[in-house]
Amino acid sequence: MSSIPGQNGRVLSGMRPTGQLHLGHYHGVLKNWIRLQHEYECYFFVADWHALTTHYEDPSIIAASVWEMVIDWLACGINPSNATLFIQSRVPEHAELHLLLSMMTPLGWLERVPSYKDQQDKLKEKDLATYGFLGYPLLQSADILMYKASQVPVGEDQVAHVELTREVARRFNHLYGREPGFEEKAEAAAKKMGKKNAKLYRELRRRYQEQGDHEAIETARALLEEQQNITLIDRERLFGYLEGGGKIILPEPHALLTPTSKMPGLDGQKMSKSYNNTISLREPPEAVEQKLRTMPTDPARVRRNDPGDPAKCPVWQLHEVYSDESVREGVQQGCRSAAIGCLDCKKHIIDAILEEQAPIHERAQEYMNNPDIVRNIINEGSEKARDVAKQTIDEVRQAMGLAYR
Ligand code: TRP
Ligand code: SF4
Repeated sequence: MSSIPGQNGRVLSGMRPTGQLHLGHYHGVLKNWIRLQHEYECYFFVADWHALTTHYEDPSIIAASVWEMVIDWLACGINPSNATLFIQSRVPEHAELHLLLSMMTPLGWLERVPSYKDQQDKLKEKDLATYGFLGYPLLQSADILMYKASQVPVGEDQVAHVELTREVARRFNHLYGREPGFEEKAEAAAKKMGKKNAKLYRELRRRYQEQGDHEAIETARALLEEQQNITLIDRERLFGYLEGGGKIILPEPHALLTPTSKMPGLDGQKMSKSYNNTISLREPPEAVEQKLRTMPTDPARVRRNDPGDPAKCPVWQLHEVYSDESVREGVQQGCRSAAIGCLDCKKHIIDAILEEQAPIHERAQEYMNNPDIVRNIINEGSEKARDVAKQTIDEVRQAMGLAYR
């Protein structure tokens, strides 16, 4: 298992196990993960330690949600042969990396992360003036850097965390990527690629450093990727030497901004557990029907033959997610002319959600009947993740001069 990501790069993302997943998670996050698993080497994990930062007083919801969440992922179409699935606490190296990074992370960097104050204000009922809560974006940095992820799919609210991760990586490489005789070692490593390649490498490096030629650095990186007979350490030296400084031990990730989910809840606000307006991913069909039937509509439609305006109705927002052009057309006309009743209108949505959920229910049921399959997927994924994590931690210990054993 190499700690160096593959060609297209590596994607890492996590989700907190703090309750049932709902349609907002599906349309906002999971569909995106399902797409990414075909394009990148993906690592998706259950962020149980992250959940503790806000649920330390009563962690029971975490234990109750972990396996259910994995079942939800699988039932939606996350495929364990395309993505590595694991639980954070099964890879204790995350804690070690978090600790080591904490030594060199200025306090101000964490205090300035916007979610720190925002969440404290939002979750007033919880005491979040804790060391763990302040440090949780750095734990997230450790999650990301551990796998040398190049892309991190996150929503708007988490972009600052990826930004922090980039700064932490830069600082780490700056502090620990320097080694005595770095330039000589890099030159010696270049020679090991053979005369022709070494010459090409030097030429590309010069073009980048003297003229800022980005094509040259890309070509040089590709050249290094191709090399079969240089060691991991030499390769990292050569990557680092391209840009100047020292070795790049922890590469900087990029945020892959997930378009904010437009998934509306039952009241027209964004679907969210805290608004109590959700339809869970595995909501029983009768409950889906019940929730839709009692959902508020345009208040102007008191009687069946009062005309309405879809723009004032939360049901219309669901049509924007679920209905095709012709259904929408019919709703617009029928609502404004009172030709259709609200229950007729809702029927389309009920059918669409039930149709979307049927295969999810079916696959989830299979996993519930065979819990060992789910355990095995996570066991294998956690082992695989741990192999990568151990490599990174070794490199980090080496770089920090902690390899005396
Ligand atoms: N903090 C993220 C959230 O609250 C979850 C998370 C933890 C995560 N570690 C991560 C997301 C690493 C992306 C990458 O939703
Ligand atoms: Fe809303 Fe549909 Fe009723 Fe119009 S007909 S008010 S869009 S539920």
